[in-house]
Amino acid sequence: MNATRIPVDIPGRGYEVTIGGGLLGQAGPLLARFAPTGRAVVITDAAVGALYGGKVVAELERAGLRADLLDFPAGEKHKNLATYVSLMGRLLGLAPAIDRSTLIVTLGGGVAGDVGGFVAATALRGLGSVNLPTTLLADVDAAVGGKTGVDAPAGKNLIGAFHQPRAVLIDPAALATLPVAQLVNGLAECVKHAVIADESLLEFIEANAAGLLAADVELCHQLIARNVAIKAGVVAVDERESSGRRELLNFGHTIGHAVETAAGYAGVSHGQAVALGMSAACAIATGRGLLTPAAAARVAAVLAAVKLPARFDDLPGLPAAARDAAVLRELMLHDKKARAGVVRFVLPRGLGSAAVFDDVTGAEIARALEKLAG
Ligand code: GLY
Repeated sequence: MNATRIPVDIPGRGYEVTIGGGLLGQAGPLLARFAPTGRAVVITDAAVGALYGGKVVAELERAGLRADLLDFPAGEKHKNLATYVSLMGRLLGLAPAIDRSTLIVTLGGGVAGDVGGFVAATALRGLGSVNLPTTLLADVDAAVGGKTGVDAPAGKNLIGAFHQPRAVLIDPAALATLPVAQLVNGLAECVKHAVIADESLLEFIEANAAGLLAADVELCHQLIARNVAIKAGVVAVDERESSGRRELLNFGHTIGHAVETAAGYAGVSHGQAVALGMSAACAIATGRGLLTPAAAARVAAVLAAVKLPARFDDLPGLPAAARDAAVLRELMLHDKKARAGVVRFVLPRGLGSAAVFDDVTGAEIARALEKLAG
């Protein structure tokens, strides 16, 4: 197998991300390294479990490990405390009992990684974990960087912990079973990385859009490697989002979160909402002279090439509340990323560079939302 290895150099908690086509079917020896007493528990959702759960458990057993599989119902709405409590109860009820050396293997998309990672962070005050992401979104974003948790009635991701995995194993061949809408969802985060950190990645996505949307294994391998390298570089210098560097990963998310919340998470995916948010942030940056209109047009062209929206009308199923400027502004003010009532925006400064701004005015936001509506 042609594998790429990328280090995540967090002081004291570093690990490696390994990317390789077919890796899921050869993961046993790699996983066994992190289970010193030969015990592992795989946490996955029922849909991914049906596709890959048996394969991963068989791989663990082939490497001489005792492996149990715990699953939960698939879907964002199950990223909650009830799922966490159920998984934790089953984990602690396993016989023979788990101990501090038990390895948690999270298998699946962002929800499985977040919930499974949070179980790992908190069971017996912390177990080692390895992430096996199976969606493009999780490959390029959620699986790397140690954010774990569940949603609360008051908002998304409000309960959680930073818990770095011991390793991340990514098999781009797993994307073959992913609906194209889910690929598009992940591509939004790739465009985000390109705009904030690497203009040449924008070219790569634009030039290879058709192959990426067809889940070509070699192209996806390259795409994932480039994005993981960017994400790893960011979290290595700002693991806990305290210096402002990791905050750059929120590009497109200020308006994006407001749109998906106003929509009640219906009629718009996370990636589509982030794409709208990126378009709006580019409009604000253009208005400030930080980005040329040609550069903003280029971002719009790449979004279109990978079937992401640049305007509200590109999403016919978007509820009216999610286009309402007053509703969106109110939600932005109450987002957990707002500080002391100030909305924070990541704005590009040219392509491949960005910064956080806390002085974006209501008028600038209103003009950007008008562009999305226009
Ligand atoms: N998805 C943004 C982050 O991991 O910080």
